[in-house]
Amino acid sequence: MAEEKKKRDGFGSKIGIIAAAAGSAIGLGNIYRFPCEVGNNGGAAFLLVYLLVVIFLGIPVMLSELVIGRCSQSNSVGAFKKLAPKTAWPIVGYMGVLCGFLIFAFYSTVSGWTLEYIVKSVTNSFQGKDLATIEQEFTAFHDMGWRNVMWQGIFIFLTGFVVFKGVQNGIEKYAKILMPLLLVILIVLGVRSMTLPGAKEGLTFLFKPDFSKITGKVLISALGQGFFSLSLGMGVLITYGSYVKKSDNLTSTAFSVVLADTMIALLAGLVIFPAAFSFGVKPEAGMGLVFNTLPMLFNQMAGGYWFCLIFFVLLAIAALTSTISLLEVLVAYLSEELHLKRQWATVVACLGTMFLGTFASLSLMSGTPFTIGGRPVFDLMDFVSSNVLLPVGGLLIVIFVGWKFGKQKFFDEVTNEGTLKSALVKIFFFIIKYLAPLAIAVVFISGLIK
Ligand code: TRP
Repeated sequence: MAEEKKKRDGFGSKIGIIAAAAGSAIGLGNIYRFPCEVGNNGGAAFLLVYLLVVIFLGIPVMLSELVIGRCSQSNSVGAFKKLAPKTAWPIVGYMGVLCGFLIFAFYSTVSGWTLEYIVKSVTNSFQGKDLATIEQEFTAFHDMGWRNVMWQGIFIFLTGFVVFKGVQNGIEKYAKILMPLLLVILIVLGVRSMTLPGAKEGLTFLFKPDFSKITGKVLISALGQGFFSLSLGMGVLITYGSYVKKSDNLTSTAFSVVLADTMIALLAGLVIFPAAFSFGVKPEAGMGLVFNTLPMLFNQMAGGYWFCLIFFVLLAIAALTSTISLLEVLVAYLSEELHLKRQWATVVACLGTMFLGTFASLSLMSGTPFTIGGRPVFDLMDFVSSNVLLPVGGLLIVIFVGWKFGKQKFFDEVTNEGTLKSALVKIFFFIIKYLAPLAIAVVFISGLIK
């Protein structure tokens, strides 16, 4: 019975896990989804709730996932099987896998657009166009359903290629340099945006809260966006946590990732809203808010051609490090639990995503048959995964750590068996055990009742 002990891949250094986790967190969620949600939920009031979610729930939930992953050394389903054998807890992991397919499916649609926009940037196709034309062309692009599907397929293939080759670490090395560059570019764009005529209105929208706008829908959207942006609630950080060395500091990892992710989202807001108000793009414009405002902004800049091109290349890479993390969850599950070879697991996960994703892409054409209750399948996948499955997953994860895993093991894991001092560990545990479950449940239920 020569059972071969499989050696699991691991992250080489501390910056390895931070880069990988930040790579997962920073993506279209920050630059595309965050402004959309802010715009659709009344601006500053949403932002305020979002920041509270990120600080008070984001950090503890992230820590919980990392703890589960590192302690179990297993994928998101296997982790619960190991830590709570013969219970129903692995359902949390299965839910995460399902959620991973859903998110990857619609996320890859938008990821594909970044490739289309790279081509548009190279060919300088935005130059000199006014808003109406840019808007028209964006709609026309959606109507070319199969072109969307093609870019989506290319993007899924790219993600699969990276995971298949097992060169994530290599990508993360680049990401370590490129994501700070994204930050720099966003700062430059922000400065340009805020100095446009009429930009101040955008800042007011973003920063001056109207508390009467905080409704159940705003609460649940902020909760969903917080989980989405930080990649929480579906096992990405359980899976990544399982690759982390026993000597790494999980608390500082969680802090760094949350800080970096939130900074990028805030900057994206500072780029989009002043410009959108200046150009007359409505905050409720959804996808167009970002994909139409940005080309307009580049048109107003010296060197706009290069800014546009570099920006969309960076955005595509940011999206890629996020899709890698989504695929990694699926592959870790399929290969470790269903014992598929890693290569086959990658192929199966990519084909499954491609199948689901095709519906997401084609559901944005005018006159599409792929709607449910009048809403595009795309929106539905987004809503169900981000606003339902992720919060429920996060809720179950904190309940698991607080009530099943227990205080002592949590302390041991967070302090690396007592070798690290962590003044905050008690507070975190209190939040994880009582505050977070209560807060998530209240927000979630208030959103459902609405
Ligand atoms: N957080 C990523 C973003 O903001 C998207 C993402 C990657 C994600 N992995 C995830 C979202 C897991 C939820 C769960 O773009």
